[in-house]
Amino acid sequence: MENLIDTQTRGPLGIIRMQRAPVNALGHALRGAISEAHRGFEADPAIRATVLTGNGKFFSAGADITEFDTGRKKPYLTDLIARLEEGTKPVVVIINGIAYGGGFELALGCDYIYLLPQARLAFPEINLGNIPGAGGTQKLPRLIGGPKALDIILTGTPIDASRALELGIAETIVSDEEEALARITQTVEAGLPRRPVRDLTVPGSADELETAAEPHLRRSRGAMAVLKGVEAVRMSYSAPIDEALAWERDTFHELNASSEARAQRHIFFAERSARKIADVPADTPLRPMESAGIIGAGTMGTGIAMCFANAGIPVRVIEQEQERLDHGLARIRQTYETMRDRGRISAEEAQARAGLVTGSVDLAAVANADIVVEAVFEAMDVKHEVFAKLDAVCKPGAILATNTSTLDIDKIAEATSRPRDVIGLHFFSPAHIMKLVEVVRARKTAKDVIATSMALGQRIGKIPVLVGVCDGFAGNRMFINFNREAQILIEEGALPWQVDKVFTDWGLAMGPLSVMDLAGLDVGYRIRQARGSQTPYPFTTADRLAESGRYGQKTGRGWYLYPEGARRGVPDPEVEKLIEDVSREKGIRRRPVTDEEILRRCLWQLVNTGYQIVEEGIAQRTGDLDVIFVNGYGWPRTRGGPMFYARETGLAQVAADVTRFHEEIGPHWKPSALLLEEAKAAGA
Ligand code: NAI
Repeated sequence: MENLIDTQTRGPLGIIRMQRAPVNALGHALRGAISEAHRGFEADPAIRATVLTGNGKFFSAGADITEFDTGRKKPYLTDLIARLEEGTKPVVVIINGIAYGGGFELALGCDYIYLLPQARLAFPEINLGNIPGAGGTQKLPRLIGGPKALDIILTGTPIDASRALELGIAETIVSDEEEALARITQTVEAGLPRRPVRDLTVPGSADELETAAEPHLRRSRGAMAVLKGVEAVRMSYSAPIDEALAWERDTFHELNASSEARAQRHIFFAERSARKIADVPADTPLRPMESAGIIGAGTMGTGIAMCFANAGIPVRVIEQEQERLDHGLARIRQTYETMRDRGRISAEEAQARAGLVTGSVDLAAVANADIVVEAVFEAMDVKHEVFAKLDAVCKPGAILATNTSTLDIDKIAEATSRPRDVIGLHFFSPAHIMKLVEVVRARKTAKDVIATSMALGQRIGKIPVLVGVCDGFAGNRMFINFNREAQILIEEGALPWQVDKVFTDWGLAMGPLSVMDLAGLDVGYRIRQARGSQTPYPFTTADRLAESGRYGQKTGRGWYLYPEGARRGVPDPEVEKLIEDVSREKGIRRRPVTDEEILRRCLWQLVNTGYQIVEEGIAQRTGDLDVIFVNGYGWPRTRGGPMFYARETGLAQVAADVTRFHEEIGPHWKPSALLLEEAKAAGA
């Protein structure tokens, strides 16, 4: 068996070095080995302190996740930490690299923390719907106070060595292990006392914690892990530590088994799987990606340009006229200045990023770009003209991408002599903020263009998901059907505010009608008019609202009234009357619609459409669709996405509902064959 630790003595120090490849995950054998070695040093009269450290880039990345499935064995991490705390000699930790989750808690179970410059500390548990479960919520507040501890526990964001020192987590930062050992030897020889973190008193008052907790609770949309995290840190002020530790451990196990945590684990793994493409090997050679061009400096073009600049890639923006170009470039500069003023980036960074964006009114200025992303008006003739010009000026091998959200990319590619180089990069608005990019492969797109686009997505900090060409691609095609069902329910008897409330109660930040008011009812109206939509269920009420100038928030009236620029709408009796008129004209007898029916019908539209999309090969897997909804549509991670929610509900139930809706409501409910098949397999 490999040696999980290396032990050494050096003067008065007994040194334990974790060396379990690849990340020093704290599996039971490693825990046992540390505990044994510590016991040995405790018993050795020549040793006056134990030093605990790691090797390579890792102190310890935390729990061994494979143990979640195989079952946990003693000593648990909490046992190991308790033994270190019960010893008679001080334990000093040298954090040599990553100390996440249980690794960070192990360090907090010791007396003193030294940091090497490359140390990074975090509690990532919250990203998986949990809180630290081996003392983190009680000990971190004792070191740095409740408010700062709460930020670390509830954001999961890693902190570097200098920030950790500034917060008061560590004694000092030393340049390397040699220096650390020399300094520790000195302090030990001078009589270093024991000082377990658990014995400290939390500084400050519990009132400060309540103020600090407020924004976290407001943003949490009721996520259990956030509520429990606040409760845990609250206990650090008031409860005896052993009682609080027992509560923390029980809560950790409870949350771990909750559907919210399952949902977040699902999304975590789905985001990783989304990178894999069945017919494009992971080692496909990538095309160069050192410079970019953007065509169109409108809403999307400017946002996409910032994505490149944020990743350090120089980008040239092309517009038709100088005035529009200047306007677009000014908007980019303003955005960076605002980020600087809010302390999100430094002044140098703001300047450097803005400096990477240049402009031109001559399309030939992108001739040498490795990639060009087109974001001009959404009209096929305009796109054709732009792609024909790009074909003429761009260097061979350049990737020619379009940000179209509704047009057929196979047709756009026909305007060029190089359809293999054409691909869709469908960003979501605001493009510099939203994480999702749908990478849309067209019929002839080359594999290395797909691989390079996926890699580019990651490099610019996005979550790229591969989809194929169809009306609306994956996300919008699902979302429009969700919205259409909301429209139908309103004609049958529901009211907009009832529909919206069902979804905000369920966990969405906004209901579908409020979203329409925010986006502008004129936008969807124009698209529907341009397409002469032939769906069996036209958006009649929405169209009437748009026709009467009720565009939503920007005009103060839409589905709701927005008195004096209010962002939250209030119900409007006029809209209610309009809805009743529409129902009457269509010969629909309005009836009470239950919240449950609203939820199921809208969600199962998403799910049934999602299965159709996978069945048709437009998306590779249902998990990819969850990734799309969580990162592009503000879906709560705690729900895991619509496809996951359907599986949690039970596919047999979903399939039965969809089949019944098909009989009772209409042809747009035709069940997906894949849904029926998977429901059968799940029931078997
Ligand atoms: P926009 O109207 O804000 O910007 C388009 C810009 O392109 C305008 O500034 C226009 O002057 C410029 N332009 C037009 N023809 C040009 C040409 N030949 N050469 C150079 N510049 C030209 O439009 P927006 O909203 O930015 O949309 C652009 C594209 O992004 C469309 O294809 C749209 O469907 C797509 N999209 C839009 C989303 C949104 O939420 N607005 C979301 C995802 C995709």
